[in-house]
Amino acid sequence: MEKTTVLYAGKAKQMFNTDDPDVLWVEYKDQATALNGKKKVQIAGKGELNRKISSLLFAELNAAGLPTHYLKTLDATTMLVKKCTMIPLEAVVRNFASGSFERKFQVAHLRPLVPAVHEFFYKSDALDDPFINDEQAIALGYADQATIQAIHTLSDQVNAYLKERFAQLGIDLVDFKLEFGRLSDGTLVLADELSPDNMRLVDQESGNSLDKDVFRKDQGPLTPVYAQVLERLQSVVSR
Ligand code: C5P
Repeated sequence: MEKTTVLYAGKAKQMFNTDDPDVLWVEYKDQATALNGKKKVQIAGKGELNRKISSLLFAELNAAGLPTHYLKTLDATTMLVKKCTMIPLEAVVRNFASGSFERKFQVAHLRPLVPAVHEFFYKSDALDDPFINDEQAIALGYADQATIQAIHTLSDQVNAYLKERFAQLGIDLVDFKLEFGRLSDGTLVLADELSPDNMRLVDQESGNSLDKDVFRKDQGPLTPVYAQVLERLQSVVSR
């Protein structure tokens, strides 16, 4: 397998086409960004940790029958994924209030949210990823009704799996962001990445953040925190 042309150069990842039209090559970068790219730092080892955590979780979801784009790991920072047509929505699921939700509604930090809250954001750097509701997404042609429904269902299934997986490790899954795409045969799959860059994780005992909030809030070095998440995932094998 050879990488060919650059498909996408993002803040945390770079994607390449390959000599197989159905396969993409994803390299995880050491760059950490916050505030929509306004805060940007190189953190040695972050790309490898995010690749490892993403590979592990994607492989588990595939095995649990929840379809993802993940194919296999190539090296420390590189994985191969199935090529899909991306849906330009970020699907956020929240189990506890934090981040933009906590700010918007001025509610207590980590107040439990029952049922879990689903939000969509339209993927647009130029517009700063604005909130978008189901009808807005359908009316603007970003997804049809059936796709919105399928994303809700798959997001709930991924949430149920990850919530339970992290709970076994003494970690609360506060919220996370998912992105979806369709394979050439139309199958909806979970794409992008699954790492502490895209989810909030809180240690149940200490209350400490085990995710990118450590970087966002300048709470200390990031890689030992991500390494701890990986170690805990590896120490307890999924059922
Ligand atoms: O900032 P907010 O509270 O809306 O973020 C909700 C969740 O989505 C967090 O876990 C955050 O890390 C993730 N997120 C993301 N990419 C974005 C925005 C949010 O991964 N562009």
